[in-house]
Amino acid sequence: MRVLLTGANGMLAHALRETVPSNAEMFARSRAELDVTDADAISRELAAAQPDVIINAAAYTAVDRAESDLDSAERVNGVAPGLLGTAAARIGAKVVHYSTDHVFDGKSVTPYAEDAGTNPINAYGRSKLHGEQALHASGANHVILRTQWLFADVGRSFPDTMWTRARAGLQTRVVDDQRGAPTYAGDLARATWSLLDEEGIIHVVSDGATTWFEVARRVFAAAGCPELLAPCSASEYLVDAQRPPNAVLDTTRLRSLGIILPTWTVAIDGFIARRTAAES
Ligand SMILES: NC(=O)c1ccc[n+]([C@@H]2O[C@H](COP(=O)([O-])OP(=O)(O)OC[C@H]3O[C@@H](n4cnc5c(N)ncnc54)[C@H](OP(=O)(O)O)[C@@H]3O)[C@@H](O)[C@H]2O)c1
Repeated sequence: MRVLLTGANGMLAHALRETVPSNAEMFARSRAELDVTDADAISRELAAAQPDVIINAAAYTAVDRAESDLDSAERVNGVAPGLLGTAAARIGAKVVHYSTDHVFDGKSVTPYAEDAGTNPINAYGRSKLHGEQALHASGANHVILRTQWLFADVGRSFPDTMWTRARAGLQTRVVDDQRGAPTYAGDLARATWSLLDEEGIIHVVSDGATTWFEVARRVFAAAGCPELLAPCSASEYLVDAQRPPNAVLDTTRLRSLGIILPTWTVAIDGFIARRTAAES
């Protein structure tokens, strides 16, 4: 199986590169090597690599910046998945794409199933929804994995920021009224390889849901300084983009396929253990 990976220097792409199965030959392309907003570059790359599967890990992920940089977010998140889909359909390749809980408004009191009504409340979420729609309209075989609160051992993420602040002895306030599931990029990468034959949309997140504050509490406790942490509400923590408050993703479809990701506590504890080991 020949696999073309876009956005190869990103957080999830790193995890995909580390978990590539033995039956796959991977062609990993960074932004500098393949700009996914460039249809001609995509055509050239597909002609050269002849992939069976294109995994699109390229994205514009600066959620707050997207509010004032709509065009860039829209080109990468909204339009490029359609360009990849159109090119993939021409050579009969499958597209694996990632989306987000931000396609929902987060006002539901129950978890969102894959077919729940979308209603993004920020520019990033709108651009990601457009990308889902563009890929669907391209006619390519595709699967869209919606995930949430991604983190990894490399790169910047919420647990990484919390660990760094705790280690630096910094007083920290964290939002306690937004719920979701912190998802380890390594777990999502392994699930991706198992889901290549699926079609449509699948929610892939850690098992269980929590708040940002509870995630931070686990990290600060492990760092030995729980007293430095205090809760606050989203309305007290000013950012440019509104976040969906309760965008918990239902994983019934994932479970029906025999895949259950570790619980978020196991995922975060793994992050803490690796970080601790790296520092000792
Ligand atoms: N991070 C999260 O919490 C989260 C949550 C839910 C869903 N997701 C989704 O999961 C997927 C992976 O996210 P991630 O966290 O791994 O993102 P990431 O770390 O920001 O990586 C995205 C990569 O895409 C590259 N890129 C940007 N524009 C590009 C272009 N025009 N052509 C080619 N590459 C381009 C970036 O390159 P540069 O670094 O050079 O810009 C970066 O290496 C995305 O679809 C994202 O929307 C992420």
